[in-house]
Amino acid sequence: MISELIARIETYRGSITDLNVDVIVNAANASLLGGGGVDGAIHQAAGPGLLEECRTLGGCTTGDAKITKGYNLKAKFVIHTVGPVWRGGNYGEAELLANCYRCCLELTREHDLRSIAFPAISTGAYGYPVEAAARVAIDATRNWLIGNTTLERVVFACFDERTLSTYERLFRDPD
Ligand code: AR6
Repeated sequence: MISELIARIETYRGSITDLNVDVIVNAANASLLGGGGVDGAIHQAAGPGLLEECRTLGGCTTGDAKITKGYNLKAKFVIHTVGPVWRGGNYGEAELLANCYRCCLELTREHDLRSIAFPAISTGAYGYPVEAAARVAIDATRNWLIGNTTLERVVFACFDERTLSTYERLFRDPD
């Protein structure tokens, strides 16, 4: 069971915009109207149609997620989720971050998508420590995969070496 789960999860070093998966996840803000970091990169690669569709969504609350088309991206869809801003760890950040992963994964089931790529949500502008965030990401994803067989491939897209090595270490040695 465990090895079957791990077989569905992989890491990748580079821009999430280059990935050929059914859906990529955007670490957005509550307005869903674009920003810096991975959000800026996704809007730039997708083209103006993405912002146009995002304008119709009425924003998104922290921990929730909304889906759009992928426009000029290789990915057919984008799921926009809003991670928590790190405020020291005692403000429900871990639960909100886990909700982001769970909501995105639920949307793959509702839309019958087979592959998804996540960035390290909240670990850039929102200041969430990388290792703590990676633990939440891996735990939430593994737990969801146990009950769901539709999703064949989950990619954790790591933009920098430190994020990649953190995920790889946690996969090797979860404790
Ligand atoms: N592909 C994959 N990961 C990336 C890319 C990319 N092209 N570019 C950056 N990252 P951040 P947050 C990594 O700041 O912390 C935006 O302005 C980055 O190195 O993008 O959730 C939104 O509009 C880091 O590891 O997202 C919000 O206002 C991770 O993506 C706010 O930032 C997340 O960094 C959200 O902040």
